[in-house]
Amino acid sequence: MAFPDSFITELVDRSDIVDVVSGYVRLTKRSGANLFGLCPFHSEKTPSFSVAPDKQIYHCFGCGKGGGVINFIMEIENLSFPEAVEFLARRAGIPVPEQSNDRDSQRRARMLNLNRDAARFFYEQLSTPEGQRAGEYMARRRIAPATARQFGLGFAPNSWDSLLHAMERLGYSPRELFEAGLVRQGKKGGFYDAFRDRLMFPVIDVRGNVIGFSGRILGDGEPKYLNSPETLVFNKSRNLFALNLAKKSKSGYIILSEGNIDVVSLHQAGFDSAVASLGTSLTPEQARLLSRYTDQVVLAYDSDAAGVKAAQRAITILEKLDLRVKVLRMSGAKDPDELIQTRGADAFRNLIEASENQVDYRLRAVTDKYDLSVDEQKVEFLKEATDLVARLPGPVERQVYAMRVASLSGIPTDAVTAEVERRRKRLLRSARQENERRQSRPERQAQPAEKELHYADAASAAAEEGLIRLLYLDPDLGRNPALPEAEAFSSPALGHIYAAIRSRLQQGEAVSTALLSETLSQQEMSLLIRLLQKPERLAQGEQALQDYIEKIRQQKELAAGNADLNALAASLRERKGYKGKDV
Ligand code: UTP
Ligand code: MN
Repeated sequence: MAFPDSFITELVDRSDIVDVVSGYVRLTKRSGANLFGLCPFHSEKTPSFSVAPDKQIYHCFGCGKGGGVINFIMEIENLSFPEAVEFLARRAGIPVPEQSNDRDSQRRARMLNLNRDAARFFYEQLSTPEGQRAGEYMARRRIAPATARQFGLGFAPNSWDSLLHAMERLGYSPRELFEAGLVRQGKKGGFYDAFRDRLMFPVIDVRGNVIGFSGRILGDGEPKYLNSPETLVFNKSRNLFALNLAKKSKSGYIILSEGNIDVVSLHQAGFDSAVASLGTSLTPEQARLLSRYTDQVVLAYDSDAAGVKAAQRAITILEKLDLRVKVLRMSGAKDPDELIQTRGADAFRNLIEASENQVDYRLRAVTDKYDLSVDEQKVEFLKEATDLVARLPGPVERQVYAMRVASLSGIPTDAVTAEVERRRKRLLRSARQENERRQSRPERQAQPAEKELHYADAASAAAEEGLIRLLYLDPDLGRNPALPEAEAFSSPALGHIYAAIRSRLQQGEAVSTALLSETLSQQEMSLLIRLLQKPERLAQGEQALQDYIEKIRQQKELAAGNADLNALAASLRERKGYKGKDV
């Protein structure tokens, strides 16, 4: 933050760790690349302190301390981060630069201006001769000019440099366009427009800033949509398309659909509270954002298998935030746009009114199975219904549905509630046991050297370590919108390391031990160095990432006692299958 990254990187480049450490510790070479010596941080007779010249880090196998060259100086000279930086700068003969703080906020403001100017440029292209084609496409999709204007839709011409040149004329540099994801860089270093020959949907946040773009091909072809990459101002997992409009709706609910076109079509038909997640499945951050504006969400996902699955995942996420969820079942149309185009706005309105909430729907299915006037069937009904209710994550929700079961069966509410809670305890206990049983021995034993950092939940911590390792070793993975918040981590130290790495990646900054030294405590740095030395499935990074994220989520829910037991059971089954194949 305080020192520019470029300065820290140069400083570390010019402060070889072997040279620096050798000023304090006598290092000798054994087999392999590393050098060893007696640890300066604890007393020992045989050397367990190692320095890796290739990675420019040190690590003590005895006391667990580790870090890069800046950490070494902080630790051994007992200096703060800036003091250690100055110490090393003097040693290397590099001047220490002025410290500036608001560089990022300036860059951010400029990128927002650039996006706004680009959106204006795309909009203006609609009235050029070439832009006619976009107009015709919209006419075919029955998007009226007034709707296009409301959403600020535009057209990216079929050219390699028209946006680039237009923005250069306004004073933006190609580098700035690149950082905003508006141009790409070719092999020879030249820049070219990223969006070409596409209908442009600006993504606007709730404050009215243009934060990114989504561009649809005019007609058929691949890829159907191109989206802005994650930038300083654009984070897909924290924004929703059209929430800037939907937040003003008086309807009392928000309609969540999958496609940009669906949203545009819904607004045009009078459903002014429609939004879409930006080409990703709904994230917890997006759900939290929604919960600021409404307490009821109507899911209008595509009716294909993928849509049904996505809806189910969304329900789980939304219900955790105590949002009421209704699910539209669109038979006869693949998505809301098609439904409105073929059957009209009233048909859609009827669907909203007829839609059921999930639990009602399932409870009705159970009720229909039994004849409640027959005693034996009533017993079976009670078993199945209380099992369903016991698996609901929220206590209030369980109470409400226990009452429903009571009134359906004529059994006193207290008795039903007691039965539900008894079942839930049993389900949770066996889920925990199953989970415990599946943890591998090394996973359970891998505790940090420092007692203060003891992992309360070793299984979650192992996954947290994995997530950190992946992000550190393959920063591209930092763009994954499913990444959890640091608060989801069971270990505060790991959470802090993760937050530090992730925030650098989100700002488009590099990650190295040196660059993290300012933010991380010495203990955290040691922890980082240690966890980086464990093996990682880098070749299947995305998959490994997903697995870790899922593991952290599950452990958290299990610990809190509000696990979605159905989902947990499913994933334990999956993991079993996976182990059978790969390990
Ligand atoms: P759809 O394919 O359903 O698109 O993808 P759509 O917006 O409903 O368009 P039409 O009606 O088929 O023309 C749903 C959403 O998934 C994202 C986009 O945000 C899209 O709106 N998506 C889809 C992508 O990001 N990339 C793609 O290649 C396809
Ligand atoms: Mn669609």
